Amino acid sequence: MFRRVRLAPSTDLPLAASLRVDSCNTPDHLQIPALKYHVREKTEEESLAVLVVGGAGYIGSHAARVLRSRGYDAIIYDNLSTGYRELAEGFDLVVGDIADSAKLAPILRRCDAVMHFAAHAYVGESVTNPKKYYHNNVTAALALLDAVMESRVRRFIFSSTCAVYGNPVKVPITEGNPRQPVNPYGATKLAFENALEAYGRAYGLKYVSFRYFNAAGADDSGSIGEKHEPETHLIPLIFDAIRGKRAALEIFGDDYPTPDGTCIRDYIHVNDLAEAHVLGLEYLTKADSAAMNLGTGQGYSVKEVAAKVEQVTEHKVPIHIGPRRAGDPAELVADPSLAESLLKWRARRSLDDIIRTAWNWAQKAR
Ligand SMILES: NC(=O)c1ccc[n+]([C@@H]2O[C@H](COP(=O)([O-])OP(=O)(O)OC[C@H]3O[C@@H](n4cnc5c(N)ncnc54)[C@H](O)[C@@H]3O)[C@@H](O)[C@H]2O)c1
Repeated sequence: MFRRVRLAPSTDLPLAASLRVDSCNTPDHLQIPALKYHVREKTEEESLAVLVVGGAGYIGSHAARVLRSRGYDAIIYDNLSTGYRELAEGFDLVVGDIADSAKLAPILRRCDAVMHFAAHAYVGESVTNPKKYYHNNVTAALALLDAVMESRVRRFIFSSTCAVYGNPVKVPITEGNPRQPVNPYGATKLAFENALEAYGRAYGLKYVSFRYFNAAGADDSGSIGEKHEPETHLIPLIFDAIRGKRAALEIFGDDYPTPDGTCIRDYIHVNDLAEAHVLGLEYLTKADSAAMNLGTGQGYSVKEVAAKVEQVTEHKVPIHIGPRRAGDPAELVADPSLAESLLKWRARRSLDDIIRTAWNWAQKAR
C-alpha cells in the first residue's frame, strides 16, 4: 500500500533557486544551492493532490476518476480545445492553457504531482500542420514543465506514445527499440521525453514516460468515454459504420504481411492505462524515473476487431477495403513486461471488455 507523503522544502530558499543541479560538471558561479526535501506524512484527512493536465479529454478523464477512487484529490486543468466540460464533471476544473505559467503557478502550489495528458494527437494533421504540433506538444509543454520546476512538485507522469518508435525493428516492441519517429506527432512526443530525461538528470525531477499503444474502451459507469472530433480511432469508427453515420468501415489495405492482410495493433483498455498512472505515481516515491510501454502484449488485426464488434454488439459491420495509407506499420504490439515488473501492473481487461464498455458509452453518448 502506498504511504501518503508530502514533499516539503526544508529551507526558505526562493523556489526559482531551488532546482538541484548535479554539481560535478557545473562551474562554481553556476552552482545553485541544493534544496533538501524532508518527507512529512500527510495526516489521515489530507489527500495527495494531482494536477490532471488534459483531464477533460478521453484518457485524462478516466485517470482523474481512478485517482479519486484511490483516495487522491484530482484537479483538472484543460483548455477544452479537444476536451469536454462534461468529462470533467464533478471535479475541480480550471480552464487554462499549459502555456499560461501565471495561471498554473497558484494551482501547482496546491499539488503534489502532475499527470500531463494535454497534447494534439492526430498523426495525419501533424504531417500537414507540424507547427501546431511543435507549438503545443513541445513549446507549450515546456512552459508547463518549467512552471512545475518553479513549484515544489517533483513527480511528473507523461503521456507518450508508441509512435516514438516509428517502424519498430522488432515486434513485440520493448523499450530498447530505437526511438525513430516517422511523423511530427511522434517526434514532438520524443522531444518532450528527451526534455524530461534532461530535467531529471539536471534538476532532480522524477518522471515516468508512459508509451501508450492503442487506448480504447470506456469506464464501466457509461458516464465517460472516447470522444474525439474528428474521430480517427478504430472502434468508434466501427460503431459509426454500424449506426449508419458513415457508409462503411474503411480498411486501409488488406495486403499487409499479417495472417488476414490487415494491420495489427495492441488495444489497451483506458482504465488499465489509468490504473498504471496511479501506480506510476506511487512508484516514483521509491524508485527512479523510467519510460515504460503500456500495452497488453496481444495484437488484433482490423478485421479481427470488426468481427469481435459484430459478436459483442450483434450488429453487422459494413466494410470497404481501400488502399494502404502511407506510414502505417503492419504490426505494433507492446512488450509490456517492464511496466509489469516495475509497477506490478498488468492490463486486466480483454478486447471483449473494451468493446462492451465502448458500445455502452457510444449508445449513451449518441
Ligand atoms: N488515445 C490514444 O490512443 C493515445 C495513444 C497514445 C498516446 N496518447 C496521448 O495521450 C494523451 C491523451 O490523449 P486523449 O486521447 O485523451 O486526447 P484528448 O484530445 O481526448 O485529450 C487531450 C486533452 O488535452 C487538452 N489540451 C490540449 N492542448 C492543451 C493545452 N495547450 N492546454 C490545456 N489543455 C490542452 C484538450 O482540451 C483535451 O481535453 C495525449 O497526450 C496523446 O498524445 C493517446
